Amino acid sequence: MTVQKFGVFGYPISHSLSPAMHTAAFSALKMTDSVYGAYAVLPEELKDAVLKAQADGFRGLNLTIPHKEKILESGIIKPDPFAKKVGAVNTLLFKEEGIYGFNTDAAGALAALETAGADPAGKKILIIGAGGAARSISFLFGERGNTVRIINRTAEKAEKLAAEIAVKTGNRDVSGGGFSTGWENLAQADIIIQTTELGMGKYEDVSFFDQLELPAGKTKDEMIQTRLKSQAVAFDIVYNPRETKFLKDAKKAGAKTLNGVMMLVYQGALAFEIWTGQKPDVGVMAEAVLKGLERKE
Ligand code: ATR
Repeated sequence: MTVQKFGVFGYPISHSLSPAMHTAAFSALKMTDSVYGAYAVLPEELKDAVLKAQADGFRGLNLTIPHKEKILESGIIKPDPFAKKVGAVNTLLFKEEGIYGFNTDAAGALAALETAGADPAGKKILIIGAGGAARSISFLFGERGNTVRIINRTAEKAEKLAAEIAVKTGNRDVSGGGFSTGWENLAQADIIIQTTELGMGKYEDVSFFDQLELPAGKTKDEMIQTRLKSQAVAFDIVYNPRETKFLKDAKKAGAKTLNGVMMLVYQGALAFEIWTGQKPDVGVMAEAVLKGLERKE
């Protein structure tokens, strides 16, 4: 029996839930010869580490922070058209002919929304943040023809990202701005996707809404209540904690909410499919992620 090797490269990596998630998927499919490990790889070691994995017979890898963009600079992989456009790769497939790169983060977000009953087709999407995660997701919705508004603490970054997406996807309904436009954008949005680190770690008690200026005499809750569309969906890509302050605020105002657990699961499931050609059991993967999160708490 030859061992089929998979893994994730990142730095830091000890917190990664990917090994538990993929190991559970292999078990459920009785792929007992497949193993998935987490490897701490520094940015300056990335190219050599990927080449070594190739020499060692790895079949697939995930890349996480800080490697997703950097791998493209190495020149050793062939990105698919979407990963190339976005400029970020989170999945590598090793084949005889070379190393192929994919980006399953955005498709993971889309699958999470769809399976939660929030089909984004034709919907107006508001993206909070303009970092790496916002970039992949905004590109995908831009490409799908959605109206996409990106707002960020640093307005210029959102404007620049939106302009790039508009040019590269040909979608002129992609625009960017700052938090000063937050309340009016909220009133337009069908789906709001929170991609910043607000709600996590030292920002655990901060919500995106806390950063919006309040008109005189209005409370935050009143503003959310009056601005949020009645059918709005609030999606936070953060999965730890499972309910961020953003989701709590949105839920109070009646929004349907979704956290980042299923996005994590679907980006993994899509990578799994690229590597093995098999559809893993996402329920089993989600269970492994939730168990891992409980252990952390
Ligand atoms: P990621 O790859 O996870 O998206 P990133 O590329 O470092 O991370 O981007 C971080 C995002 O979180 C940015 O949109 C950042 O806003 P700025 O561009 O203004 O820095 C946002 N962010 C981080 N801390 C924030 C805070 N305290 N308030 C508002 N936005 C914040």
